[in-house]
This record gives sequence, C-alpha cells and structure tokens, in this order.
Amino acid sequence: MEHQQIIFSNDIPGSLETVLKGLDFNKVVIITDVNAHQFAFPKIADSPVMKGIPCIVIKSGDTCKTIETATTVWKQLEAEGATRRTVVINMGGGVVTDLGGFAASVFKRGLRFINVPTTLLGAVDAAIGGKTGVNFNGLKNEIGVFNEACAVVVSTLFFDTLPPTELKSGYAEMLKHGLLSDRSYFANLLNHEILTDDREQLLGLLERSVIIKRDIVAADPHEQGLRRALNLGHTAGHAFESLAMKRMEPVPHGYAVAWGLVVELILSHMIYKFPSDILHMVAAFVRDNYGTFAITCDDYDTLIALMRHDKKSIGGEINCSLLADIGNVKLGTVVSSDDIKAALDIYRDLLQ
Ligand SMILES: NC(=O)c1ccc[n+]([C@@H]2O[C@H](COP(=O)([O-])OP(=O)(O)OC[C@H]3O[C@@H](n4cnc5c(N)ncnc54)[C@H](O)[C@@H]3O)[C@@H](O)[C@H]2O)c1
Ligand SMILES: [Zn+2]
Repeated sequence: MEHQQIIFSNDIPGSLETVLKGLDFNKVVIITDVNAHQFAFPKIADSPVMKGIPCIVIKSGDTCKTIETATTVWKQLEAEGATRRTVVINMGGGVVTDLGGFAASVFKRGLRFINVPTTLLGAVDAAIGGKTGVNFNGLKNEIGVFNEACAVVVSTLFFDTLPPTELKSGYAEMLKHGLLSDRSYFANLLNHEILTDDREQLLGLLERSVIIKRDIVAADPHEQGLRRALNLGHTAGHAFESLAMKRMEPVPHGYAVAWGLVVELILSHMIYKFPSDILHMVAAFVRDNYGTFAITCDDYDTLIALMRHDKKSIGGEINCSLLADIGNVKLGTVVSSDDIKAALDIYRDLLQ
C-alpha cells in the first residue's frame, strides 16, 4: 500500500497551499472545535490561503464525538454548498480528526480531507492511519470507517497552548512507538524533557514517531496483523482507564497507556525475557512524568475482568501485544490471570 502523504512543517499555510495545488477542488471547508478555533486557528488565519474559508466549529471533548455532532457538521456542509469536489480540513485534536474524517468520508459518499492535528496525541496517533469514527451507544469508536486523509500536516506550532497533561498524554504514544522500533530512538525519547525541552527537538522526535506509525499502518491498514502491535500498553492501559472511570476520577488516555506500558513490559519480561534494565528505565520515566495509578490487590480481579472484556481479547482470553526486546513484537500473546497478578505486584513495587 502507498504511504499516506505526511508533511512535517511549522509552515501550515505553505503546506496547505502545496497540498491543495495537487487537488482538483471547488471549495474548502474547515472543521475544528471551540478550543482549536480559539487557540490554533488564529496562528494561521491571516495567511492568504485561509482567506474566506468557512469554519464549522464543534464542541470540544470526547463526549461530543457523536453522531449528533456529525449531523450538525453535515447540515453545515450542506448550508455551505459542499459538493463531491469540496475538500475538508480537519484542524484539531483526535476528536476533530476522528469526527471530521468520518463526517467527510460519508458525506455525499465521500469528500477528501486533510488533517492538521493541533494536539500531540492527534499528531502522533489519531490524525495518522485512516481510522475515523464516532462513539455510539456508550461504546468508543463504534461507528466509523477506515479512510485516510489525503494529507496530514504535522507541526509543533500549536502545542504552546496545550495543557501540560495533554502534551504528556501524547508523549506516552511516542514512547510506545519507540518501544516498537529501535533502541537509539527510544533512548532519545527517554532523554527528552517533555515540558521544557525545545519544540524543534520535539518536532524531530515527533517526525520519527509518526513515521513508525505510518509504516506499521501501511503494512496492515485494516488491522488484521501487524497493526495490532500499536495496542502495546493498551490492554492494561484501557483497564486502568476504565477503573479510573469507575472511581469517578478519570485519567488522561496517555497516562493510562504509560502505566499500561509498565505492566505489559513486566509481562514481556516474565514471558519473553524483555531486558530488565530497559523495563526499569521505563518505569522510572513513567513514575517521574506520569506519577502512579494507585491500586491494591483488591483491584486485581476488577482489572483482570476489564482486560477480558477488552475488544482485543478473544473468547474470554486476555490477549496482549508484548515485546521480546525493543522492536521485537510478539503479537497476540495469551496472558493468564496469574501472570497478570504477578505483573501487578511488580508494577506496585516499581511505581508505588
Ligand atoms: N483514529 C485513531 O487512530 C485514534 C488514535 C488515538 C486516539 N484517537 C481519538 O482521539 C481522541 C483524543 O485525541 P486528543 O487527545 O487530541 O483529544 P481532543 O481532540 O479532545 O483534544 C484535547 C483537548 O485539547 C483541546 N485542544 C486542541 N488543540 C488545542 C491547542 N492547540 N491548544 C489548546 N487546546 C487545544 C481540545 O479542544 C480538547 O479540549 C479520542 O476521541 C480518541 O478516541 C483516535
Ligand atoms: Zn492510545
């Protein structure tokens, strides 16, 4: 499969101009959310290429990633006179690129769209790889389609106004990509100070991370094999995320992934002899940057039940993507509840 066009540049108008030049279109419409509209859009609004482009502004937050919001987008696309030759620019975090990508993909059987991620998580994960959709009936991403943006413009231009927790949350997905690739990139990630080091350094790290995801997706666009490697840290991570919800103390997705990575690297060490020195380095980095998600042994059964219900689990068996080493992925490893209990004991030793 061909690679998705990804442009790494802090010159957003220039990049958009280049992409649009290659497209035959009659109209451009921006889909964004209230925060991206307030904080990100002004950074490019004055450029000639943006002049006169209408903005459809949706509410912010994952709870607004719904079919109802998509309906309001479709109504506004109609009001703007959008046709099959209209190009949509999704400018925002993962909520905007997921919802805007879905709304565009089915409007009049499919408008082309360009993603301009304005959050780190969007840049490194959500805007790349063609998964679009909305939540439905209490289920995440229940309705959607695989459809790639015709281009993604990745930059660090918009990150200054992001809350620190959002920046750290996205960085956890970069750690995941690093673990799936190679030692020297991973070492660079652990040496980077997320909140204080300069944005140029981050752009370099981000570029590598995006390419790792792009290549995995290109090898398996519809998630039948290798793409499942991207679930690293997410079986345990989703369980932490759900337990936090149950406690009415929600945690950012990336934080749960960071803690989940520690659990899954412990399992990787137990099952595949993943190097313990790297495990300890990751645990220290996670403790310093994400703190800990406090659990006791009374939480083990709940966490295990949540992992069994994870969409990656088959027939009640808990299924994880683990690692024998950095870059050496073991897809679909079945993990027993005893293994998980042992791993959670070690997690508490390392992080609490
Ligand atoms: N499609 C995929 O492959 C994929 C992968 C990972 C996550 N996702 C989805 O992505 C969503 C999470 O993405 P996210 O973390 O970007 O969340 P988000 O889009 O909700 O953005 C986080 C917050 O930051 C605000 N924001 C956006 N840009 C800003 C800026 N430059 N300055 C200040 N505030 C800004 C948003 O309004 C929001 O309040 C979830 O819905 C998740 O399901 C999709
Ligand atoms: Zn994730």
